Amino acid sequence: MWAVSATADTTHPSEPAEETIVVRGSGPLSGQVVVPGAKNSVLKLMATTILCDGAHELTNVPGIVDVAIMGDLLAAIGVEMTRTAPGELVLLNTGEITPVAPYELVERIRASINVLGPLLTRCGEVRLSMPGGDDFGARPIDMHIAGLEAMGAEFKFSHGYLEARADRLHGADITFDFPSVGATENLMTAAVLADGVTTIDNAAREPEITDLCEFLVAMGAQISGIGTPTLVIEGVEQSDLRPVSHRTVPDRIQAATYLAACSVAGGELDVIGARGEHMTMLLDRFGDMGLRITPSDDGINVVADDRPRSIDIATLPYPGIATDYKPLIITMLAVADGVGIVTENLYPGRFRYVEELQRLGADVRTTGHHAVVRGVPRLSGAPVKAHDIRAGAAMVVAGLAADGETTISGVHHIDRGYDDLVGRLQAVGATIERR
Ligand code: EPU
Repeated sequence: MWAVSATADTTHPSEPAEETIVVRGSGPLSGQVVVPGAKNSVLKLMATTILCDGAHELTNVPGIVDVAIMGDLLAAIGVEMTRTAPGELVLLNTGEITPVAPYELVERIRASINVLGPLLTRCGEVRLSMPGGDDFGARPIDMHIAGLEAMGAEFKFSHGYLEARADRLHGADITFDFPSVGATENLMTAAVLADGVTTIDNAAREPEITDLCEFLVAMGAQISGIGTPTLVIEGVEQSDLRPVSHRTVPDRIQAATYLAACSVAGGELDVIGARGEHMTMLLDRFGDMGLRITPSDDGINVVADDRPRSIDIATLPYPGIATDYKPLIITMLAVADGVGIVTENLYPGRFRYVEELQRLGADVRTTGHHAVVRGVPRLSGAPVKAHDIRAGAAMVVAGLAADGETTISGVHHIDRGYDDLVGRLQAVGATIERR
């Protein structure tokens, strides 16, 4: 599906006009699902085109609303996005860059923070509306700011805007307390045009960070330590950079969603495009839960021939189990045989969707960072809300394991990060529609 536009996404969860997703207990699933490119990579790749003039080409771009919103933000800054074919974009940077990211666009997606590093290093100044939190809690940017300050930037905060200046950033040695994805990306992109060498220790090393590193290297950046916790970036001149053609890394969270769907509904799926090496720990744990997972030439084959088994699991930065997988895992545990304890180590407040699962008959109790999930054989369909992208996808998966009909509202959250979830599940035999 590619019929998304940022301007069309003006709905609010409380507005009656918004579509719902209606899903009935389904299974077994069978067939092929193709996994599109990763939201959490493509949005960063798009923002990074600010660094370099010319026409950049991106392929394997997911058809999601967040891409359209990032396109609007970049248009306001001076980079024009054109959809050349389904899954393909050209971003044209003419060199006329306005280093201002306005509130109306920044507040719509978290990834808008990713324009900070490129704008500051390219223009020497930036005015960025402060990004807000998320339904699952506050999302501070202190590490982004401290890192850029170490590189010579001066920050001022006024009237809801963050203003930063630096004639030219300089290299610095930065050690993170925590491997923040966003801070790693912002500092890395800023360091590309800084004067001298920047070292980022305890850097995040998610596959989407590696994808961004490879994009930057193709652009002419000098980066070593890619895929490790120590990134070393040697600054280059603007004239050393060139426009890039790049294929976005496949979305491991969307891939995991189809594995979770298969787990609760049973059956066999070929998840085409999924990169097993980006999901090693998760696949091991899904194996412990009873899924039979084997690599195939072009993805992952998964077979679920029994009710899932409960496990205990904790979220951690990559290569640990991603927090974004957790709503799916709790949903699997909700219908698993036994009791599982889930520990959240990234966003303590990220349990809100548990109330929705309880509406479907799940036996889940949360306390602090932990959820205790006692599996029941089946859930029971009911109206539920999607509170964020991942929670929304988990509601869809839960609906597959529920008797009767589950109606999910707040679908605009799901559309932010999932490329035709409904169509892809329908194609493998799920009883699901938008209504
Ligand atoms: N943190 C700070 N200070 C900072 C930066 C982060 O305290 O300056 C804390 C956060 O509050 C949080 C933790 O560090 O507790 C992790 O934050 P991180 O910076 O790693 O996350 P992010 O870059 O804001 C990205 C994804 C999230 C995903 C996290 C963790 C994007 C646009 N978002 O967020 O994805 O959960 O990494 O893997 O890439 C989603 O896609 O639905 C989503 C929420």
